[in-house]
Amino acid sequence: MDKNISKSVIRRLPRYYRFLEELLNEGIEKISSSQLAERMRSTASQIRQDLNCFGGFGQQGYGYNVAELRAEIGAILNLDRERSVILIGAGNLGRAIASHIDFSQYGCRLVGIFDRDESLLGQSIAGLKICSTNVLGGFCLENKPEMAVLCIPRESAEDTVKLLTDHGVNVFWNFSHYDIQGEFPNATVENVHLTDSLMTLSYSMENKTQNT
Ligand code: NAI
Repeated sequence: MDKNISKSVIRRLPRYYRFLEELLNEGIEKISSSQLAERMRSTASQIRQDLNCFGGFGQQGYGYNVAELRAEIGAILNLDRERSVILIGAGNLGRAIASHIDFSQYGCRLVGIFDRDESLLGQSIAGLKICSTNVLGGFCLENKPEMAVLCIPRESAEDTVKLLTDHGVNVFWNFSHYDIQGEFPNATVENVHLTDSLMTLSYSMENKTQNT
């Protein structure tokens, strides 16, 4: 497999995975690149080009075996593992993420939820009791979570990331708007800014108006 796969190809893989999952749920066992392209509003050549980066999975004249392709893409995305994840910040966003995202489908297991607000301690979300951040360091040493979901305000994030990296957590799903990599260049980070998507939509609305 080519190790220098472009980020844009990697970013398209979750979408392939999602569509293949839908096909499986519909009982569809095989699909050609042009059928998949039609469904995904993409092109057959884009799909073939993307999947060829990983060795190509299709067979000439047969197309793709949906279950196999989904499993292969899942393996590339490392979804076939089980890594422990903690969530920091049990406010509105943290609660929504902990209760609505089935981490197990994505190679993750949520093992701890932490907040500094004492009034939340002991409440349960997704079957886990909210714990105090006072015990976060000890929890990390004992349970060695690999990833943290940050649902805390930007101003709280630096200290939290420092504590976590000091205790071996170096992977962040970051909703906090804090620039982790500026201060912690060795961290692996995926930043999420929901409003980026809203701004893109805003652009598209105007663009469409101009185009029609
Ligand atoms: P919230 O105020 O409901 O919850 C924040 C929680 O974080 C509170 O329970 C608070 O006690 C806790 N907290 C603060 N500092 C902490 C620390 N150092 N350690 C542990 N817990 C700590 O706020 P909400 O709505 O849940 O949003 C959380 C943050 O996420 C906000 O700063 C907001 O700007 C950001 N956000 C980001 C989005 C994105 O797309 N990236 C979308 C929505 C919110």
